[in-house]
Amino acid sequence: MKITLVITGGIAAYKSLILIRRLREAGVTVVPVMTRGAQEFITPLSVASLAEHEVYSDLFSLKDETQMGHIRLMRDCDLVLVAPASADFLAKMAHGLADDLASTALLASDKPVVVAPSMNTQMWAHAATQANVDTLAGRGIEFWGPAEGDLACGDMGSGRMLEPEELAVLVLDRLQGPRKLAGKRVLVTAGPTQEAIDPVRYISNHSSGKQGYAIAGAFAAQGAQVTLVTGPTQLLTPPGVQRVEVLSAQQMLDAVRANNAPGPADIAIFAAAVADWQMAQPSDQKLKKQPGQESLSLDLAKTPDILAHIGTSADQRPKLVIGFAAETQDLVANAQRKLASKGADLILANDVSEGTDTFGGENNQVTAVTTQGHKEWPRGSKQLVALQLVDWCADRLGDTTT
Ligand code: PMT
Repeated sequence: MKITLVITGGIAAYKSLILIRRLREAGVTVVPVMTRGAQEFITPLSVASLAEHEVYSDLFSLKDETQMGHIRLMRDCDLVLVAPASADFLAKMAHGLADDLASTALLASDKPVVVAPSMNTQMWAHAATQANVDTLAGRGIEFWGPAEGDLACGDMGSGRMLEPEELAVLVLDRLQGPRKLAGKRVLVTAGPTQEAIDPVRYISNHSSGKQGYAIAGAFAAQGAQVTLVTGPTQLLTPPGVQRVEVLSAQQMLDAVRANNAPGPADIAIFAAAVADWQMAQPSDQKLKKQPGQESLSLDLAKTPDILAHIGTSADQRPKLVIGFAAETQDLVANAQRKLASKGADLILANDVSEGTDTFGGENNQVTAVTTQGHKEWPRGSKQLVALQLVDWCADRLGDTTT
């Protein structure tokens, strides 16, 4: 197992040192290529020591060219990983620039190329970067991340490089076999719903969408054709994922049904925090406070249960139906009830009590509940939960087709 690791200039370059270590521990040969920017953050000596391999960085070095050559650098490996991938380097890749060894060698690559972006959240969200991402994704370049969270610059948001341990798992998965879910159709719901009270107010909850988006991204990275039906969030669409935006539970159900056709998807995952109640009769006009009025009662009706609708469908049920259970008590017992009543194959129960930070936070701890029993999955980032879910589904489908 051999990868060429291109390290570009960004604060996350220090994480690449840990990544190299994890990959070496797993027996992967790492051939490092560093841009000039990368060398401002970490030294070639540290990289070479951990990789136990010469570092290549100079396009015009007679020594580098005679030893390896920029063409062989990218061809004599199983995978090329750019981590961290800066905004500048993504732009270079998208436009085919070749003004240093890393960018020149990438143009000569005939191997799968994966990038792990790392940059400030505004830079990631910028239309220019997103256009470059679309161009690269359209050329078959795969994106792992970025993740949400605290950024080195003090901002919060999308742009953080995946943790080295997560990248190492993804690299090993890729090197050890074909993409686990190639060609599978996957439906994912994420985020909150908003149920209108009147034209200016709504009933909703604190879901950020992070768990569902991490799942959509992880399934797409394994070759699945993913449709993400999402309530309103601040998140960017994971590369390679088709996004359908909705507001209310009824709209989410309609979008799920429309995208669960023709013929059911292979897998449906319901991570959205769907409001349980909607106005029996939303008001067309803004509800006004009346003089002397001290309270207001709202007449609420149940929203459609999207998971139950799909899970118990006689003819439109996907092979695997997975739900979440957001609980503050009796986690397993409540999840077991939901498993049975909603027709799911798996319920991932998470504790959403105050202080857990499950809603909106970066990490999650889920208990997997099936008819066979229940098992706690290790606490970790929402990406890690997503990776474990990919493995669970791939095992269940018993399929590793390319
Ligand atoms: O979005 P994040 O900030 O990352 O937070 C993640 C999360 C806590 C929202 C997520 O991990 C989670 O638990 N999602 C499900 C939340 C929820 O609505 O749980 P529930 O126990 O009320 O519903 C059980 C299942 O039925 C869920 O899969 C839900 O999507 C589904 N459901 C519920 C009601 C409804 N009307 N339709 C549904 O499909």
